Amino acid sequence: MSPLSSPPLPLSGPPLLPLPISSSPSVLFTVATVLSLTACSPSRLTSTSSADGSCTLGPVFEEQPSSVVYPEGLSEGKVTLNCQARASPAATYSWRVNGTDVPVGDPRYTLVAGNLVISGPQFVRDAGSYQCLAINRCGTILSRAANLKFGYLHDFPGEGRSPQTAYEGAGAFLACQPPAHYPALSYRWFVSEFPSFMKPDGGRWFVSQVTGNLYLAKAEPNDTASYFCFTTINMDISTKSTFSKANQLTVQPDGTGLSSAPAIKVGFPAETYALTGHTTQLECFAYGNPVPKLRWRKVDGLLPSKAGASAEGPILTLPEMTFHEEGVYECEAYNSEGRDTQQGRITVQAQPEWLQVMSDSEVEISSELHWTCVAAGKPRPSIRWLRNGQPLSTQDRVEVNGGRLKVINLALEDSGMYQCVAENKHGTIYSNAELRVQVQVPDFRSNPVRRLVPAARGGQVMMECRPRAAPKPTLFWSRGTELLTNSSRVTVTPDGMLRIHNISRADEGKYTCFAENYLGKANSTGHLSVRDATKITLAPSNADINQGENVTLQCHASHDPTMDLTFTWALNGALLDLEDPGGTYHRVEGIVGDLLIVSGQLSQAGTYSCTAQTVVDSASASAKLVVRGPPGPPGGLVVKNVAATSVELRWSRGYDNHSPIGKYVIMGHSLLSPGWKRMRTDPSNIEGNAESTRVFGLLPWMDYEFQVIASNILGSGEPSMSSHTVRTQQAAPTVAPSGLGGGGGDRNELIITWTVNHPGALCRGG
Ligand SMILES: *[C@@H]1O[C@H](CO)[C@@H](O)[C@H](O)[C@H]1NC(C)=O
Ligand SMILES: *[C@@H]1O[C@H](CO)[C@@H](O)[C@H](O)[C@H]1NC(C)=O
Ligand SMILES: *[C@@H]1O[C@H](CO)[C@@H](O)[C@H](O)[C@H]1NC(C)=O
Ligand SMILES: *[C@@H]1O[C@H](CO)[C@@H](O)[C@H](O)[C@H]1NC(C)=O
Ligand SMILES: *[C@@H]1O[C@H](CO)[C@@H](O)[C@H](O)[C@H]1NC(C)=O
Ligand SMILES: *[C@@H]1O[C@H](CO)[C@@H](O)[C@H](O)[C@H]1NC(C)=O
Repeated sequence: MSPLSSPPLPLSGPPLLPLPISSSPSVLFTVATVLSLTACSPSRLTSTSSADGSCTLGPVFEEQPSSVVYPEGLSEGKVTLNCQARASPAATYSWRVNGTDVPVGDPRYTLVAGNLVISGPQFVRDAGSYQCLAINRCGTILSRAANLKFGYLHDFPGEGRSPQTAYEGAGAFLACQPPAHYPALSYRWFVSEFPSFMKPDGGRWFVSQVTGNLYLAKAEPNDTASYFCFTTINMDISTKSTFSKANQLTVQPDGTGLSSAPAIKVGFPAETYALTGHTTQLECFAYGNPVPKLRWRKVDGLLPSKAGASAEGPILTLPEMTFHEEGVYECEAYNSEGRDTQQGRITVQAQPEWLQVMSDSEVEISSELHWTCVAAGKPRPSIRWLRNGQPLSTQDRVEVNGGRLKVINLALEDSGMYQCVAENKHGTIYSNAELRVQVQVPDFRSNPVRRLVPAARGGQVMMECRPRAAPKPTLFWSRGTELLTNSSRVTVTPDGMLRIHNISRADEGKYTCFAENYLGKANSTGHLSVRDATKITLAPSNADINQGENVTLQCHASHDPTMDLTFTWALNGALLDLEDPGGTYHRVEGIVGDLLIVSGQLSQAGTYSCTAQTVVDSASASAKLVVRGPPGPPGGLVVKNVAATSVELRWSRGYDNHSPIGKYVIMGHSLLSPGWKRMRTDPSNIEGNAESTRVFGLLPWMDYEFQVIASNILGSGEPSMSSHTVRTQQAAPTVAPSGLGGGGGDRNELIITWTVNHPGALCRGG
């Protein structure tokens, strides 16, 4: 018995190839997903009928094959190309190579779940571009292409290499002449014997990764030795290395020690193509004596900082290219004798990338399908379309126009899996979607007309008619035997909405919506029940209160007794919370609609509106509440006419909060009295209509700030903003110094002491 019948086993072969690590878990995962989808999608099954009526989910790739480089001649091994798709019913799989079917009967090929396993792959028979097809009743999708290539590295030819001579101080190179190989090689050189690999030696040596050649900027007598080119190839599952026969280099002493200007020997192409997201490298190396130094620059801008230290070495490395790095680059080799330069352009291109894709769609039969795919990329990608893995082109009802697909007069057989494919020379990307063309006889079961539709007398009502149906049904409404058409009170829209305005008792009764398409017809009936309109019978009245007082706003309404009535209140349009026991707003116990405002504050003044609401209609009424309180702060306080002991203050009235301002008091403070103190003014009592006063009794040469406070019969309000600090003018002391004394001192000198009594002077030091 072949191990194929027990899925995880055949994957446990010799580990010659990277095994699909996730294979056995992913088999389990796929099964689980399908089961859960089946369980979750009964509505989709019953609501649509596609081509053969039993497809739940079209295939969706979870794993697609990746390109492989397989070591040629490794005949014992296997190559596994992965392919897994989620689908219900579960997907079956087939494979194509170079566009033709892989013969599954051939014992060299086995299918393990969706994966294609090729035993003993051979270059001549198996190299090619592989694609997987995932198939179920909903349709077929084609995977991305994976290239199976064969890697090889032949040995260097057996014959010896001719010896080479170089002159001391001059440049020289040794050619690697690598043997036939695939894919690209990496190169190193060693001297005399393996593994004494060459080091760069301060930039004197350079190994080109393009040709493999070894370059010597300036030969020295002790460079005389045997050199070997060592090459390595990296394949997906193995690496292989080989090295050349000896290259004998003899350096002839020169003795003259002639210096020479740099001459670039390893250059880079005049035009290099780079791919966004990938790394680009440019090589540059020069002969010269002394050994030339190298540096890179960007001719048309700044050298990207991502070049890092490579900006001063023989290989400029630019990782993760973007379009910003496109431009002309220059390598400069310089030493004390001169310089040499080379320039070349890097042109950046990009693999295709989706900007817009289509998504799974369910569309009614006979209608139109419009799908658009847009891809970015450089060169600009071309877009083509597939239906169930087959190319789709303009014919009959199908119109393909680049990224646009249009199918008119959709038929059941248009259901299936669609793919749009964007392609340029750097890559190909796929976007997949499922199309389901729906047919459905009109059916009200999942969405019938509402059975009971209450409506208020004088109000309006809307009744919806939304059966499932495909193609779109024609809809009409009737009341008994009377077909309803547009009139002054009745509107019937083509999408099935019935509207009746200014409802009266006579409108009560049964209303039936009829739906019909070519597959059949159905009807659904609702009962319109006319109720009394809600009316406000006692509206709140305008009120004014003093700050901190309670007030009740009344609101009573009449309504149809078959329905519940609820009251809500809003202040200036914002709904109030009446349920917070700690809040200011409460319902009045025993009286449904009334609002009690406890300890009204200035901020609670405004327009209160009461709304009485039933399920069919509502009515509102509103009233204004005025809250009286102490005056607001006076504004615009300025200090004028600053003298030694007095100033003049001016201000403007603040808001009176609905009670006339009775008087003002002036507060001030100086450095000597940190708290605010009432100031002496002229007149001493400032009337409520005043807007200026004189403050006196100040100290000379002292900093002051002032505030004004207004009050009315409800109390004193908030103080105004403080004035700017002002300094009173200086004046002669008003009190003579005391404690005059003297004595001591040298000859011709008299010391006099006294105590200063002017408080301002004390502070300011006179
Ligand atoms: C597929 O095409 C490539 C390139 O044309 C060719 O080298 C290879 O042999 C083909 N492979 C198969 C299996 O036909
Ligand atoms: C070779 O000679 C140079 C001087 O000409 C010296 O700097 C260098 O160290 C020598 N290298 C070896 C490996 O002896
Ligand atoms: C009735 O009026 C609606 C709204 O104005 C309109 O959309 C509809 O086409 C009219 N129906 C007929 C049959 O004229
Ligand atoms: C609403 O209908 C009543 C009779 O049922 C009629 O008197 C009244 O004018 C109508 N109002 C409007 C706005 O059409
Ligand atoms: C309405 O539909 C019911 C089935 O749901 C059918 O028995 C009845 O005859 C229909 N009424 C009309 C007037 O077509
Ligand atoms: C305002 O109402 C609250 C709560 O009902 C009550 O405790 C308070 O005494 C009332 N205040 C006045 C001034 O009537």
